[in-house]
Amino acid sequence: MGHFYFVRHGQTVWNVENKICGATDSPLTELGREQARKTGQMLRKKIDHGEIHIDEIMTSPLSRAFDTAVEISHVIGVPVRIEPRLVEQNFGRWEGTARDGSEFARAKENFADSYGGGESMMKTAQRIYNLIDDIEKEPEKTYLLVAHNGISRMIESYFRDMRNEEFAAFGIKNAEVREYKFEDSFPDYHTDYDLLCRQLKSLMQGVDSDTTILSNASALIYQTLQGINWAGVYISQGNELLLGPFQGKPACVRIPFGKGVCGTAAAEGETVLVENVHEFAGHIACDSDSRSEIVLPICKKGSLYGVLDIDSPFFRRFSTSDRDGLEQFAEILGDGLAEK
Ligand code: SME
Repeated sequence: MGHFYFVRHGQTVWNVENKICGATDSPLTELGREQARKTGQMLRKKIDHGEIHIDEIMTSPLSRAFDTAVEISHVIGVPVRIEPRLVEQNFGRWEGTARDGSEFARAKENFADSYGGGESMMKTAQRIYNLIDDIEKEPEKTYLLVAHNGISRMIESYFRDMRNEEFAAFGIKNAEVREYKFEDSFPDYHTDYDLLCRQLKSLMQGVDSDTTILSNASALIYQTLQGINWAGVYISQGNELLLGPFQGKPACVRIPFGKGVCGTAAAEGETVLVENVHEFAGHIACDSDSRSEIVLPICKKGSLYGVLDIDSPFFRRFSTSDRDGLEQFAEILGDGLAEK
């Protein structure tokens, strides 16, 4: 599973003066540059020993982080890119004031307050959490992020539960490196499939159009299941599957029997659960975000009608209980399709 490294910038002039830097661009001291070089050398050793690998450095645009990133880049030979979302939180009225004051410590526990012209904790969390979500979508790339203490706090809170006081007090040393690993699997959200099936039945009641039933069935799944990016049906036509009602990005229109995950499920008449689509030979990528997929045959009066296809942007999203619940869903769907 993916992971990334985080480094805080080296010592700055305002760090020495014990002032809150925030969005103010306080430069590195000579010691700060030296700290950055030392971190680079430590990383270089690990890279040379094959212990770690880094593809790219992403840095905050503020010079203390950028210069730290460039120093590290020179030592480890990895390119640097500016990522605007890594900029330090703007602490508004607190900028330039004493960084260890008790008032500032308490202020950091106020998550909605933007400190008079600064940026609230919530807004900062939003951009950092979005960035981390984006990084998770590229498990094949390993990034080194170079930024600030306020950003390290946000990153820490993404990966573990913290009390407000603990969050407000959290910080790391200048040029310190931390590693963050993404969870191996998607958390099990325990979809209530009995409820979902009852909802499907009531949506189908008195409806005699397949298009209507399949549209509502797709919408019901798309709205109810968490962590998915596509849900819909492909309908059997001759020796291929034709795209039917769905929710998500536009998808490929025809899939021959035996091809892709959908074609395999149709040809074999069995559910296919793919934990990692990159490892499924012949997977047809409709949405590059998709990481795992489940496809269930839909039968009408004993013969194959089509397939129900659900994609997720997370690896291993679908468990065996999802499979059991969705098989029940597909059976009800097939039974409820119009007579004609
Ligand atoms: N991934 C599917 C194609 C359909 S899209 O996921 C909507 C497959 O391999 O059959």
